[in-house]
Amino acid sequence: MKRIAIFASGTGSNAQKMLAHFQFSHKVKVGLIVSNKPQAGVLNFANEYSVPILLLERERFLKGDGYVSELQTAGIDWIILAGFLWKIPATLSKHWEKRIVNIHPALLPNYGGKGMYGQAVHRAVLAASEKETGITIHYVDEQYDHGATIFQATCPVLPSDTPESLANRVHELEHLHYPLVIEKEILAQSD
Ligand code: GAR
Repeated sequence: MKRIAIFASGTGSNAQKMLAHFQFSHKVKVGLIVSNKPQAGVLNFANEYSVPILLLERERFLKGDGYVSELQTAGIDWIILAGFLWKIPATLSKHWEKRIVNIHPALLPNYGGKGMYGQAVHRAVLAASEKETGITIHYVDEQYDHGATIFQATCPVLPSDTPESLANRVHELEHLHYPLVIEKEILAQSD
């Protein structure tokens, strides 16, 4: 059994899909929901699925020990980012090398980097009159939105789109693919 920690700062719709997907799995278990925001919506899903919560304090996470011991005690094999806003510190990327994955709501390397989060991404895609956008699932290194790509999927950008309508379309793509891509990647690396 591989145990994952989901890191999320926001509403947690991707985390919810992940929790539902792995609920009865004998191969992958969500062992921890990790957040930097005590009010984050994702924490309601953690409670709903009876998954323990780890709340992060900024200084300790970014400049201290990165909560390595808590993650190790929970037996975490993989770290899955789902709308997590802080940069992953070197101490974590060292301990979980090639075992940290992120999802980004655009086709990287475009529309990524610091500040490119949620609606800001979709506003930039619309401002550039792109005809297509999508999602990127990728390994995490010490730069924002940077590590090797695992998977991309695309969807159209319509002339009538607003940042909200585009966000909804991209979210659907994320929900469809993220749990399956994670499952496939974890099982492939476990062989
Ligand atoms: C998702 O769209 C995810 O791709 C994005 O945050 C959203 C979280 O939504 N992540 C980034 O922009 C990372 N740079 P959720 O809380 O509903 O899962």
